Amino acid sequence: MFLKNSNPTKTISWQKLTNHFHNIQNDTIKEYYKDPNRKSDFSLQLNDLSVDFSKNRINKETVQLLVELAKEVGLKEAIESQFSGEIINVTENRAVLHTALRSNSDEPILVDEKNIKPQIQASLKKIKSFSSKVITGKWKGYSGKSITDIVNIGIGGSDLGPDMIVESLKFYKNQLNTHFVSNIDGDHVSEIIKKLNPETTLFVIVSKTFTTQETLSNAETIKNWFLKSATIFDIPKHFVAVSTNLQAVDNFGISIENVFTMWDWVGGRFSLWSAVGLSISLSVGFENYKALLDGAEEMDIHFRNEDFDKNIPVVLALISIWYNNFYNAETEAVLPYSQYLSKLPAYLQQAIMESNGKGVDRNGEKIEYQTGTIVWGSTGTNMQHAFMQLVHQGTKLIPADFIGFKESLYGLTDHHKKLMANLYGQMDALAFGKTAEEVHLELKFSGKEDKIATLLPFKVFEGNRPSNLLLFDKLTPESLGKLVALYEHKIFTQGILWNIYSYDQFGVELGKELANKFLKNQ
Ligand code: F6P
Repeated sequence: MFLKNSNPTKTISWQKLTNHFHNIQNDTIKEYYKDPNRKSDFSLQLNDLSVDFSKNRINKETVQLLVELAKEVGLKEAIESQFSGEIINVTENRAVLHTALRSNSDEPILVDEKNIKPQIQASLKKIKSFSSKVITGKWKGYSGKSITDIVNIGIGGSDLGPDMIVESLKFYKNQLNTHFVSNIDGDHVSEIIKKLNPETTLFVIVSKTFTTQETLSNAETIKNWFLKSATIFDIPKHFVAVSTNLQAVDNFGISIENVFTMWDWVGGRFSLWSAVGLSISLSVGFENYKALLDGAEEMDIHFRNEDFDKNIPVVLALISIWYNNFYNAETEAVLPYSQYLSKLPAYLQQAIMESNGKGVDRNGEKIEYQTGTIVWGSTGTNMQHAFMQLVHQGTKLIPADFIGFKESLYGLTDHHKKLMANLYGQMDALAFGKTAEEVHLELKFSGKEDKIATLLPFKVFEGNRPSNLLLFDKLTPESLGKLVALYEHKIFTQGILWNIYSYDQFGVELGKELANKFLKNQ
């Protein structure tokens, strides 16, 4: 079965949505909130995750029409095509099966007529046994000492995912120090090397293609540095690789036992669930790594089976399309209220923008409507003292996802109450704003009546600025897995609706080519 291939703006549901938009575009969230059931009617639950999407410029009809659109463009069939391993990455002639990496079911998934589940299990087993040897100190470096430091050498999907997860799960980490080298900027690798002892450091070179300039250059520099104090015979104790390109890994000097394979049916930006996640397993232990995968699988099952109007990734994807294509919102903010999630926005930038930043549709034709949103963000409360001014009072409409946790990890309840109060305060301020009358009264009763004439317009918050709340009980490997999988499925859903191919990234090629040309001419 092929993905349906239709211009969404030419569908019946799009026409209905356009009419509907004209009818409700000036409705306010404040008005919607007069309905006592607003919150419960526009909330969804998946075990420890609740999603409140009541502070959006949508009503029940909006959701119903967006769901109709999803049905009309064949989303259900597309989801099945993805999960069952059809070649939905048509331009690269590949299946898209990161979901298979976290599947605990026995259902076979065929790629080239071969069930891939046994390879996945074997890879997990290898990750488990290797991580355990390193963590327990059984794996020794060339001078007989145990490993103290892990260096992940990779870029893009071979860096951002593991780096974000290791940072997010810092609470669960063991004694190993984990570092990430990515940039071709030699100062990056130099700063990392400065902290390392070659006798006790393990290098994990992660590159799906093993051709990436940054990764190979950093790996060479590190190998040369290592060989200043060790010999080539010591390399197997200190260098392992994650790649699909076994020949190139061999050429680099890494022996086959030290290679963790991955497969071309896993896209780089969706690869943290494969052996690309090795540094996660080393950093937090295999049990926690597996729990991350299990959390993601829970979201996969929900996404695959739930009706669209109760399907969390689908609903969030549709709401985002509503703003992108009808309100012409250009960007979306991701605002986690957890310092642990400080790297989530950068991770999502690659996942979302490399996937859906496409201007040609599945027919190969130039697209005349808006596709991929620009994603950005930072952690609360820090960002409240930085860019939130623009989100509250600027001229742009910026829908935002607030991500929170009911419990903190260290149990400083006083801090946590303040943190969450800030989250709710921001969402309410965005949605409901502050009217001129309210400002007037406020100035009057605070003894600043003389300032009313000059200050009033500047202190008004027009409100009606949309946001979602993604609230988990606690930041655990499972909840993090669920969160990341949620965004992956949102990306997929939007790609299907926009009629684009989300799983190639030809847009990164030209710059690489030209950089090589400049390099040759230097
Ligand atoms: O340049 C983009 C890209 O191809 C990403 O899609 C990918 O995650 C990254 O480069 C790294 O690629 P590799 O894992 O092959 O080194």
